[in-house]
Amino acid sequence: MVDNPAMLVEKNVPLQAFNTFHIVAKAHTLVRIASESDLNELLADPEWGAAPKFVLGGGSNIVLTGDVKALVLKVEVMGRRLLQETTKAFVIEAGAGENWHDFVTWTLAQGYPGLENLALIPGTVGASPVQNVGAYGVELQDRFDSLDAVDLHTGEAFTLNAAQCAFGYRDSVFKHGAGGPGVHKGGHQTVGLKDRTLILRVRFALPKLWKPVLGYADIDKKMAAQRSASPTARQLYDWVCEIRRAKLPDPQRIGNAGSFFKNPTVTKEQCADIIARDPRVVHYPLADGTVKLAAGWLIDACGWRGKSVGQAGVYEKQALVLVNRGDATGGEVMTLAKAIQTSVYERFGIRLEPEPVVV
Ligand code: EPU
Repeated sequence: MVDNPAMLVEKNVPLQAFNTFHIVAKAHTLVRIASESDLNELLADPEWGAAPKFVLGGGSNIVLTGDVKALVLKVEVMGRRLLQETTKAFVIEAGAGENWHDFVTWTLAQGYPGLENLALIPGTVGASPVQNVGAYGVELQDRFDSLDAVDLHTGEAFTLNAAQCAFGYRDSVFKHGAGGPGVHKGGHQTVGLKDRTLILRVRFALPKLWKPVLGYADIDKKMAAQRSASPTARQLYDWVCEIRRAKLPDPQRIGNAGSFFKNPTVTKEQCADIIARDPRVVHYPLADGTVKLAAGWLIDACGWRGKSVGQAGVYEKQALVLVNRGDATGGEVMTLAKAIQTSVYERFGIRLEPEPVVV
C-alpha cells in the first residue's frame, strides 16, 4: 500500500466538510476510492481488507454522533458519459462520486432532459439510488437503468437493475440488512445490502420522448404565474431551483440533511381520526387507498418551526428540515428529533420515521 499513493490510509481525518450538517467529527481512518481497482486493492489488503467499513458519499443524509471508528471509504469515482442510445432512451452513466446537481445540470446541457425535477438535491450520484431521491413528482427509480457495485464482504462485483434495487419511497435494498428485501446475485440469494455495498457507477435511462412532469402544487403555481402551458426542461429546472432556494436552506451556508423525516402513510381511518383532531392537516390520498400526510405540517402544527435544542434547530421556512445553527453536535440533532417525534405522536398518534442514517 505504501507504493501506491491512491491507497493512502489517512488518519484522524476531520469530517466536518464531508457531511452537509457540518457536524464536527473525525474518521479514525479514511481511504479515498477513485476506481474499482482502488477498492479491489483495499479489499485484498491484509490489514484493512476485513476491517468494518463505512461508505461515505456526499454526506448529505447522515447524522454523525461521534467519531467514526469503522474505516471510512470516501467514494470519489468520477466520470459521466452517454453510454448508449436506444430507440426509446439515452442511457447515461455517471461515477458514484459525481456531485448530483452538477450531473443533472450537465445532462440538460448535453440535451438529455429527464432529471430536471431532481435539480439541487444535495449529495452524490452514488447516494441517489440508496435513498431513491425524489422531488416534485419524480423519483430516481423513474429514470434509473442499472448500477455497478461491489460487495464489501466478498469483493464480488455485480450489477443491479431497478427491480433488484427494490426501490420504495426514500427506500431501497441498500437500506435493509437481514430481513429486508433481498437480491439474487451470482445465482444465490442475499438478503439486504445495507453496510456491505459500495456503488461505483449508476446508469440512467432518459426518455427520448420527453414530457414535463407537472401537477405538483409549487410547480403549478410557477406555471400559472408565467402563463406557461408547456414548459421546457430548462424552465422546469429553473423553477425547481427557485422553489428549493426559497424553501430549503443551502447546506453550504446552513448545515442540514434535507427533509429529516419521511412523510408518513396512514390508513383512511387513521387519517379521519387526525382530521377530527385538526381539519387543516395537509394530506394526499394515494391510489392504493392509503393517505400520505405532510410531516412538515404535523411538526409545524406542534409549534416546532424556528425552535432549537442547543445549536440544532427547526428551519424557519420548512419544519421538516433540521438545521445546524452553528456548532451543533449530532447528539443535539437527535435530542431535537426525538422531542419532535414525541410531540407529534402525543398530538396526532403518528410515529415519524427519520430519513438520515445516524452514525
Ligand atoms: N408544510 C407546512 N409547514 C411546514 C412545512 C410544510 O405546513 O413547516 C406543508 C406545506 O405547506 C405543504 C406540505 O406541508 O402543503 C408539503 O410541503 P412541501 O411541498 O414543502 O413538501 P414536503 O412533503 O415537506 C417533500 C420531500 C422533499 C421534496 C418535496 C418536493 C419528503 C420527506 N420530502 O417535502 O424532499 O423536495 O416534497 O417534492 O418526502 C428531501 O427528501 O430531503 C426533500 C427535501
